[in-house]
Amino acid sequence: MIRFNNSKRSKNKKLLIFISDFIREIFGGDRIKRLSKIMITLCESIYLKSKKKITILDFGCGSMEISKKLGKLSYVKQITGVDTFVSKFKTKKLKYIQYNDFFKSNKKKYDIVIIVDVLHHIGIDDSYKVLKKLSKISKNIIIKDHFEHGFFSRQLLRFVDFYANYAYDVNIPNKYYDYSLWKKTLKKSSLKEIKIIKSFQQHDGLFNLILNKRHHFVSHLKHVKK
Ligand SMILES: C[S@@+](CC[C@H](N)C(=O)[O-])C[C@H]1O[C@@H](n2cnc3c(N)ncnc32)[C@H](O)[C@@H]1O
Repeated sequence: MIRFNNSKRSKNKKLLIFISDFIREIFGGDRIKRLSKIMITLCESIYLKSKKKITILDFGCGSMEISKKLGKLSYVKQITGVDTFVSKFKTKKLKYIQYNDFFKSNKKKYDIVIIVDVLHHIGIDDSYKVLKKLSKISKNIIIKDHFEHGFFSRQLLRFVDFYANYAYDVNIPNKYYDYSLWKKTLKKSSLKEIKIIKSFQQHDGLFNLILNKRHHFVSHLKHVKK
């Protein structure tokens, strides 16, 4: 489940979501367990440097599943989730904003921005523009995204993206980053990579066999001062 429940969604789509969640549960497709763990590890290492409570922006937050885990940490002060999808969600620490033009209206700065499986939906050729804007409002950017490794791997990623996102009306990309394109994106965004996990195991069981860890990467970026 990557989106908040939307009562306007058709019965067919609700059934599709139910079936897809069921298959995930049985065949090791839970993506939140490992993703939230690595996000917690990286956020903690940033917190430990300053020992000041941190604020987080979850860009393309979906149903804020990862933020809900991060929100449990005592050193996390506030998490703002933004997404293009319409929903209302608010707890003491978590706030959801549906945005049409977030960068024009946002006045806040954050300690960390997380962008989990969002950049390829925005479009990898344009992703540097978003990264540049985000680097102006946060010193740290943590990204989880996909690497493709040739034609077959690209089609596999497209198939899995279609399977995971079809019922949510999310755009399915034509291509994904490879390592050299990723490096070029960073150069264009004026961001420096502090750490990269090039092969990140996101799933277990059958899901991990179908889309192995070479298709997932996690990167911690910082703005380069000129
Ligand atoms: C695969 S989901 C990931 C959701 C969440 N980050 C997670 O990991 O569970 C991709 C999300 O990116 C959002 N998205 C797509 N294009 C976007 C954009 N231009 N700005 C913000 N969010 C966007 C979608 O609405 C969707 O909720």
